[in-house]
Amino acid sequence: MDNNATAQASAKKIILSGIQPTGVFTLGNYLGAVKSWQQMQEEYRCYYFIADLHSLTIHIDPAKRRAQTREAFALLLACGIDPEKSLVFVQSHNKCHAEMGWIMDCCSQFGELSRMTQFKDKSAKHPDNINAGLFTYPALMAGDILLYQADYVPVGADQTQHLEFTRDVATRFNHNYGETFKLPEGYFPKAGARVMSLQDPTSKMSKSDENPKATISILDEEKVILKKFKSAVTDSEASVHYSEDKPGVSNLMTIYSAITGKTMEDITKEFEGKGYGDFKDAVGHAVADELRPIREEYKRLLADRAYLDEEMKKGAERATAIASRTLTKVKKRVGLLLES
Ligand code: TYM
Repeated sequence: MDNNATAQASAKKIILSGIQPTGVFTLGNYLGAVKSWQQMQEEYRCYYFIADLHSLTIHIDPAKRRAQTREAFALLLACGIDPEKSLVFVQSHNKCHAEMGWIMDCCSQFGELSRMTQFKDKSAKHPDNINAGLFTYPALMAGDILLYQADYVPVGADQTQHLEFTRDVATRFNHNYGETFKLPEGYFPKAGARVMSLQDPTSKMSKSDENPKATISILDEEKVILKKFKSAVTDSEASVHYSEDKPGVSNLMTIYSAITGKTMEDITKEFEGKGYGDFKDAVGHAVADELRPIREEYKRLLADRAYLDEEMKKGAERATAIASRTLTKVKKRVGLLLES
């Protein structure tokens, strides 16, 4: 890179986001987050990571967790995240996250953490494992973001509250200890910011849904995708238009729009006088066509373990170099005695 190119690269805004390695990504993860991560690589300096420390809040078999972490890394690359353009890494490979997480815990109030809807939802769903990590999860997430001085954080709408929390913690820290953190802004992809369950379109599409018909995994085969869309819950009106009182049809329109780039009006026109059968079939095919190359690339990557391990190693080194600069500053600010 010549001097000019270096100056331009450093003027780019920083994007940071993460995804948990708990099961194959859903169409919600893809349209709500990862698809836009891929599109941002040219314009921004992008840092993306597999949030394996966050996944420890859920109890799963350790061997399965290890496998899922490598698989999630391969999935990111298969979705078009290019390690030559973006920094891609596994969260626990950069020790700064755990250290920063503890400091952020000590800057977070019990009251504000108690108000997090994700904590309330998850603890209601899993009353047998309401661990402290689940409660302080947003503090670890705040640390992830602030360590890299991110400008924008592209996430689905379900993460809005955690981002607001991050901004609150950063503002308070800057006030108490002096200007240290940039305040990150959320970046919500227009379409697909919230993809809902195909069987209960009033709740979000989630990896942990027990009904397999409710969720499209990005590795589902074409036949399976078409079948799931065929059985998606709609209504009895037989009219394709976007409306709050038509959550099933609106969700399918959101998905179709996110993939094809068509507006809601375009979609309504396209299916005027046609039944839901045709509409569901078109959405199913659009999704299947979008996911096919990802599935193929994923299979290829997963077979090349040496390449994946090498990319993880490079990512970890780069991430540690960037994050440790902020961490050292933070440690000084709060009065930890640095090793000489
Ligand atoms: P996670 O792993 O639950 O989800 C990853 C991303 O996918 C988005 N998403 C959705 N978007 C639209 N519709 C849906 N149905 C849907 N389901 C999931 C999520 O909003 C998210 O953007 N806490 C984060 C991981 C994380 C993180 C971070 C993110 C840890 N540290 C720092 C950003 C910055 C999480 O659990 O995402």
